[in-house]
Amino acid sequence: MSVDSPQELEALRATGRVVAQTIRAMRRAVRPGITTGELDAIAAREFRRAGARSGPQLDYDFPGTTCISVNDEAVHGIPGRRVLRRGDLVKLDVTAELDGFYADACRTVAVGDARPQALKLVRTAEQALAAALKVVRTGAALNEIGAAVQHVVHGRGLSLCDGLMGHGIGRRIHESPEVPNHFDAELTTPLTEGLVITIEPLVASGGPRVRMARDGWTVRTADSSWSAHAEHTLVVRERGPVVLTT
Ligand code: MF3
Ligand code: CO
Ligand code: CO
Repeated sequence: MSVDSPQELEALRATGRVVAQTIRAMRRAVRPGITTGELDAIAAREFRRAGARSGPQLDYDFPGTTCISVNDEAVHGIPGRRVLRRGDLVKLDVTAELDGFYADACRTVAVGDARPQALKLVRTAEQALAAALKVVRTGAALNEIGAAVQHVVHGRGLSLCDGLMGHGIGRRIHESPEVPNHFDAELTTPLTEGLVITIEPLVASGGPRVRMARDGWTVRTADSSWSAHAEHTLVVRERGPVVLTT
């Protein structure tokens, strides 16, 4: 969607706050021994308290409140009985709907202390997102985002997962445009004032290929290498992005 009134902006900000607060609550609870289902229950409680609903449930009948993906699981992991262990990397991908407006964000968290290579993945995903946010402004070309993400990630010898990318958002989880994590020379369309999008680098330590698991939801890296994911929802403005999910 494109924001065209202060009321719409305020509604999106409210959803963004719920998402940020939910990720914070989940993050605080991450420790060896907790299950992904227990983390999801924390999100469900935060949503209920805020009067928000799960975007993945509403739009896709996803079997969980949030997507929780561990280690070689890149995205759309189903929360359940899996017990987190020291050194795991857990991706908390949270999409809320409040009063008809959606916001989407993800943080990758190490359980206890992580290996240096795992921390490098997390830092690279965060820095690629930060670099992409710096190029966002009204009139910038859509492919400047992918160029910025790719520059950071490939510069460190890491991969970007095939086919996983940011997207328009607002009245649904997934709206146009697609926001690729790679430079695409064709994507010169300018970002327009008020456009609401996510940016979400998905960084893997091995190759870029991914595979769908038998559960029909979880997307894993094809070579079982670990991945990290960082995501924010933002509004495009002349002076730069207004990040809604911090
Ligand atoms: N949060 C995911 C994203 O970043 C969307 C999950 S919807 C699901 O795009 F149904 F696929 F889980
Ligand atoms: Co997401
Ligand atoms: Co998203």
